[in-house]
Amino acid sequence: AGGVKLVKSGVLTTCTHLPYAPFQSKDQSGKVVGFDVALIDLVAAKLKVTQEIVDTPFEGIKSGTDLNAGKCDVAAAGMTITDERKKVLDFSKPYFDATQALAVLTGKQVKTLEELAGKRLGVQGGTTGEEYINAQVKAKNLTIEVVSYKDLAALQQALATNQIEAAVNDLPVWNEYIKANPGKVVVAAGFDTGEQYGFAVKKGNAELLKAVDEAITAARSDGTYDKIYATWIGE
Ligand code: ARG
Repeated sequence: AGGVKLVKSGVLTTCTHLPYAPFQSKDQSGKVVGFDVALIDLVAAKLKVTQEIVDTPFEGIKSGTDLNAGKCDVAAAGMTITDERKKVLDFSKPYFDATQALAVLTGKQVKTLEELAGKRLGVQGGTTGEEYINAQVKAKNLTIEVVSYKDLAALQQALATNQIEAAVNDLPVWNEYIKANPGKVVVAAGFDTGEQYGFAVKKGNAELLKAVDEAITAARSDGTYDKIYATWIGE
């Protein structure tokens, strides 16, 4: 397909780290669906192949290890574009804007990180949320006990069962959790980190990157992006 080499012929293999709704998660039938999945399906269609998804820890995705090892062609994991990651991955143009948010169980009166002094705050390992919190704790000399969880499900489970006082993750992910579990948690504070998500390819894979960027541009201009946004993110 137009000179684009794929790790497995006839298939566009995507690395992601589940669950990360609304960007990628399993539906009742076990099929992986979501905002990122829908956008990468457009890339696959453009290449006249189908998308196949590999679920793998975020660490290997953001470090470039999985792409370099040929585990997948593209990484689509609600992944924030950062300067550090740019050294080991080639990112598409941004496809989504995000910020960090602090979630607490409904009824808790926490509004700031300062109020979490001496308490446990959960983060997701390897993410920008973890980096942000560690930097804040250091800069403000906070006595928060930061607890790192291996994936979003573990983090949300810890919050739901009161093992941590609060949890930090990307705002759209909390919004989705609140939609799925009404009344359980609230967003207590937002941190405007100005993050942008990008899809990533192995460094130097310019042909595939071009196809990804073209698919994003086309979707933005023909209304497909807005439809996908309405389906997975809402108004
Ligand atoms: N946006 C955050 C980051 O890039 C979190 C991404 C986590 N993604 C996932 N699929 N588990 O660090």
